[in-house]
Amino acid sequence: MKRFPIFAAVLISVAGLSGKGAFAGDIMAGKAKAETACQVCHGLDGRAVVPMAANLSGQQKEYIVAQLEAYRAGKRQHEQMSIIASMLGDDDIENVAAWYSSIKITIEMPN
Ligand code: HEC
Repeated sequence: MKRFPIFAAVLISVAGLSGKGAFAGDIMAGKAKAETACQVCHGLDGRAVVPMAANLSGQQKEYIVAQLEAYRAGKRQHEQMSIIASMLGDDDIENVAAWYSSIKITIEMPN
């Protein structure tokens, strides 16, 4: 138990590192990437502009990252997304996920 404070300190410093840079995703870098690589289908605001593309605004960051990694690894396949994901680095994935997940959406239930 005496070791606990050291362990906690290590955890805090790791969390501190992941709070910045590539791990957390850079929202503005993600916006710039989305403008060139995603916008034509998903919209810059994450509102899909082609019927078969998903809306991404307000989506969970973890979900976006998981899907892009799955396309890139070939675990999820789609003729367009598999190619697009293969061109994304880890930083790109974190950044575009940060961008789309940070867009606030409002929900209105049908009457
Ligand atoms: C040429 C059109 C096109 C472009 C460009 C494109 N996508 Fe897609 N995206 C699609 C389509 C179509 C789907 C649905 C694929 C499927 O059914 O698996 C999709 C699916 C996704 C999904 C899964 C959504 C879900 O609900 O599971 C994510 C995440 C995604 N795209 C992110 C991106 C990102 C990030 C970019 C830019 C780096 C991008 N896409 C560029 C067409 C596109």
